[in-house]
Amino acid sequence: MDKKKLAINGGPKAITIDPRKAADLLRWPRYEPAVIDRCADLIRKGDITYNQDLVFQLGDGFAKYLGAEYCLPVSRGTDALFIAYNILGVGPGTEVICPTYTFWATAMPAANLGAKIVFAEADPKTFNMDPADVCKKITPKTKLIIPMHSWGIPCEMDEINEIARERGIKVVEDASHAHGSTYKGKKIGTLSDIAAFSIQNSKLLPAGEGGLFVTNTLEYFEDACAWTDYFLIQRGFAGERWRKYERTGLGWNLRISALNAAIGIEMLKVLDRNNAIINRNCVRFNAALEKTGYFRVPHPAPGVTRVYYENIVYYDFKATGVPPVKLMEALRAEGCDVNATRYPLLHQQPYFVERGSDPNGLPVTDELLNHLMQVPKFPAENDDIIDQYIAAFNKVLGVLVK
Ligand SMILES: Cc1ncc(COP(=O)(O)O)c(C=O)c1O
Repeated sequence: MDKKKLAINGGPKAITIDPRKAADLLRWPRYEPAVIDRCADLIRKGDITYNQDLVFQLGDGFAKYLGAEYCLPVSRGTDALFIAYNILGVGPGTEVICPTYTFWATAMPAANLGAKIVFAEADPKTFNMDPADVCKKITPKTKLIIPMHSWGIPCEMDEINEIARERGIKVVEDASHAHGSTYKGKKIGTLSDIAAFSIQNSKLLPAGEGGLFVTNTLEYFEDACAWTDYFLIQRGFAGERWRKYERTGLGWNLRISALNAAIGIEMLKVLDRNNAIINRNCVRFNAALEKTGYFRVPHPAPGVTRVYYENIVYYDFKATGVPPVKLMEALRAEGCDVNATRYPLLHQQPYFVERGSDPNGLPVTDELLNHLMQVPKFPAENDDIIDQYIAAFNKVLGVLVK
């Protein structure tokens, strides 16, 4: 059979690894055996609801990992953001600036608190919120800037912090994609007033469900304790000013379960190891993509390092003349797992359009989205699958690009 004939046209597939094995090699999360033992032990003891020791073991462990002062594990990343926005005074009459190219949780908790969400353009080179556009969007009502480190690529934190500091605006990092990324010697999540991480099942630090509220400011940490869990008020973690509410709490119960905390503790132990495997594999695969001349990946500036929550690449379909849909169809026929990027732009969603957002108001991000493609992050130590993917891309581009 003609090896060069595309699988979509009846030729042989470039990916020859058994599909079940290939799916297993690309599977994420990859929970450690220790997670299963630890969870089984908790279930045997009937200890799967609230366990303050585990909460603080995870929180203190992650704070130490980041080099941050405080970390409070909570029920979800969305809730960590919600608590942060609430503490920093987001509400009716205020505005927050955040990217449009993000998961809804970056914006929705602020919208639910009554703030106006102002979306900023992405920088096509980094896929992150463009500080220059952030500047243009500031008004006297701006309370907060919310950089989200897309796919693990750190935002321009110096620029964002300077813009904020000059105007007395607070910064909350949505660091849900960036467990382990660094910026000028510091871990992402330590560069703003408050950072929120998701540790939901798909994340680089996966714990099933959960979030991590991180800050260097004691007052914010105590406020987070007060708003998350009335047991923490009773037990003195929320500071004296909240003590009078120890019988009622403040109405929310956003604590993490013992099971999720235990999973997080075990997976934190292997976070750097997993990131190292994924980084090595993505660097190798992406270099081969760039070598084709038709793909581009963001390269962090000197002193900045990234992790790969997902491996999202820029496909230059104007150079190939092959539309992304056609390329992906051909690659899938070869056995490749490739997809259009995951996030629909928030400023175009009915929730925001109904509230005055202009769906045509962010043309740079709109155009960027047409180019983004999700390729595997190769979380297993196996070079064969990477080599076969490289061969598949070269084969398909070799035939389709005229
Ligand atoms: C950028 C971003 N922010 C926030 C969240 C919310 O996290 P969670 O699902 O833990 O509520 C996610 C989760 O997917 C996310 O990707």
